[in-house]
Amino acid sequence: MKNAIGVILGIALFAWLFSLCSPAGVNKTGHEYMPDMYHPVSYETNLYSAYYWNHWENKSTLNKAQLSQPRAKVPGTIPRGYTGVYYGDANALDIVRGKNAPNAIPAQVNGQAPFYYANNENDRVRCENDLVGNPFPITNAGLEKAKPLYEVNCGICHGEKGDGQGWLVSKPDAKYPAAPKNLISDEMISAGNGRYYFAIMYGKNVMGGYSDKLSYEERWQVIHYIRSLQAKSKNLEYNEKANTLSNVETPAKGVAAGPVRVHAAAATAPVAPPPTK
Ligand code: HEC
Repeated sequence: MKNAIGVILGIALFAWLFSLCSPAGVNKTGHEYMPDMYHPVSYETNLYSAYYWNHWENKSTLNKAQLSQPRAKVPGTIPRGYTGVYYGDANALDIVRGKNAPNAIPAQVNGQAPFYYANNENDRVRCENDLVGNPFPITNAGLEKAKPLYEVNCGICHGEKGDGQGWLVSKPDAKYPAAPKNLISDEMISAGNGRYYFAIMYGKNVMGGYSDKLSYEERWQVIHYIRSLQAKSKNLEYNEKANTLSNVETPAKGVAAGPVRVHAAAATAPVAPPPTK
């Protein structure tokens, strides 16, 4: 008898406890066990996620669309791709580089330029088709700056001449497992600039990416330098006075008239705009 009462009381207690977890209604918040686990307070961009904004039903005071307005940027920060200074009369490239303004933050520092391509083969092709020109004109200063960058970062595999015979693969006891691409082959001479930029950003198979080693401008200057190696291998010119390799990249003080890579659109637009897409 005693046991039976105990069992009945036990069941009643359990039933009562379960009834406490009641669903929410319009005028009632309901009860839930450990609510913080149902409503994690997470930080997501463009979404207010303070706990009290979580609502159960549609009649809430604010809906998700209203809550998901872009957040204001943190005061004093500069969004990607924007410069910190504006000089009406200065050369745009100088502004981007932060020249003329010792306190300015140049826009295109390491990894700061937007690059909207994923690391897959479809996007490699998309990137090659999109990024046609080189946003920087060919300058001798740029080529000089890029020479050591190329030799240190790329030449060890791709060779000082770009022929794929860097010392990492060409020395007698070399252990490097794959043949680096011959960058002065006809295939790579006719390849678009986007293919190079993509390779620098992500690498390919055993080649790792160099986006953390080279800044935005350095990447493009290295690509100029590779083009100059290609021109050399064909006895053509690629410098600030002349580009007889292609008509795609513009020499700073000359014209692009090369026949090897011809791009119809580039012929009318001397300097391709920086890739924002
Ligand atoms: C450690 C060796 C190594 C270094 C350093 C290296 N690469 Fe490579 N690279 C390779 C190899 C290997 C391949 C061939 C990958 C494949 O096709 O599987 C390759 C391929 C490429 C390609 C062709 C990609 C394509 O679309 O087919 C380009 C362009 C390239 N590298 C550029 C560069 C540049 C620019 C640098 C310097 C910033 C660099 N590489 C540094 C090993 C290297």
